[in-house]
Amino acid sequence: MEQAVPEQGTQVASTPEYAAVGERVGAVVYFSSQSENTARFISNCRLQDEGIDVFRIPVKPHEAPLKVHEPYIIVVPTYGGGSARKAVLPQIKRFLNDPDNRAGIRGVIASGNTNFGEAFCMAGDIIAQKCKVPFLYYFELMGTTEDERKVKQGVLEFFRNHPE
Ligand SMILES: Cc1cc2nc3c(=O)[nH]c(=O)nc-3n(C[C@H](O)[C@H](O)[C@H](O)COP(=O)(O)O)c2cc1C
Repeated sequence: MEQAVPEQGTQVASTPEYAAVGERVGAVVYFSSQSENTARFISNCRLQDEGIDVFRIPVKPHEAPLKVHEPYIIVVPTYGGGSARKAVLPQIKRFLNDPDNRAGIRGVIASGNTNFGEAFCMAGDIIAQKCKVPFLYYFELMGTTEDERKVKQGVLEFFRNHPE
């Protein structure tokens, strides 16, 4: 059978890592490095069961870039060890520098480690400022069950109040 070939210039949206179950209410995009703290947090939240599509930004440069064509909240860990210039990892910058992806960002949730003092969760401040979106929540490392509950509730409320 012949394969459908996308027209040149057509940008195909990526498949979610966890697809929304039932009626779709919104999307979350996250990044997690090989230490996987954020990945564990996201997996524990089970946002897909609440109608949230969950997309993961690829870790490795050779992986196909993520394309998201729906409004989303981004969840990112902070890196850089206190350097504002390095707080947002290149993979996240690459994702956000794509104009189609950039158009969909509605809010940011950041994580980090309190050992970094003033730089705790700094990636959230930077993305909020740069993309002009609210910094909605922050948590440490892989978060607590209370963080999971609040993020789940907060993400749902956000999309209920900002339907598109
Ligand atoms: C090299 C390195 C630098 C980090 N720099 C910061 C920092 O500046 N501020 C912060 O809050 N956390 C910092 N962290 C902590 C990470 O944000 C935290 O470990 C996070 O949970 C990692 O998420 P991930 O495992 O999903 O990548 C740093 C961690 C590493 C390994």
